[in-house]
Amino acid sequence: MSLIAIVYHSGYGHTARQAEAVARGALTVPGVSAALIKVEEAERHWADLEKAEAIIFGSPTYMGSASAQFKAFMDASSRVWVEQGWKDKLAAGFTNSSSQSGDKLATLQQLAIFAAQHAMVWVGLGLMPGNNSSAGRAEDLNRLGSFLGAMAQSNADQGPEYGPTPADLKTAEHLGRRVAEAANRWSAGRGGPA
Ligand SMILES: Cc1cc2nc3c(=O)[nH]c(=O)nc-3n(C[C@H](O)[C@H](O)[C@H](O)COP(=O)(O)O)c2cc1C
Repeated sequence: MSLIAIVYHSGYGHTARQAEAVARGALTVPGVSAALIKVEEAERHWADLEKAEAIIFGSPTYMGSASAQFKAFMDASSRVWVEQGWKDKLAAGFTNSSSQSGDKLATLQQLAIFAAQHAMVWVGLGLMPGNNSSAGRAEDLNRLGSFLGAMAQSNADQGPEYGPTPADLKTAEHLGRRVAEAANRWSAGRGGPA
């Protein structure tokens, strides 16, 4: 059984919905379990993170970067970094914000660098960009055209029951599924449980 841990922060609930979509996607893959971990509760979950085959990091984009709460988790993980405890685990990332761009790429880059510092192996989104041609639609998968990880947009004046958009939630599900499939291949290749 490959454990996929999804560590995320969400100040107002929108990114939490994206995290739940990532978990849904991961759970469609046989032989996979998923743990949703809020950064506020990460102190109780270091052992789960140690056991995980893959860790998917998620944060809202606040002021063009990961939220302060997510950054606190990053800094706390330096205890694991010293021992290189997450070396060779798979990693991936997602972010949500209110603007279509909103500098979400900066947050995904921050998460990827964080994973690289931990010697993790980054898994990108693996989708062609959607909604970028005359035939494109806002309902397309990866409508925000990201490669590094999953992006989502939620309107600034609406609660999490309205956003992220359905296409962005499906894109998040895709990321969870992709990482889960990669985790099964990764653990089988190491002779571990498939
Ligand atoms: C402190 C703060 C900073 C923000 N900065 C950005 C930003 O840089 N880009 C953006 O598009 N939205 C920004 N937003 C909007 C949030 O990303 C957006 O409301 C998001 O859906 C919040 O996710 P959450 O409900 O999971 O916290 C900001 C919101 C807050 C509270």
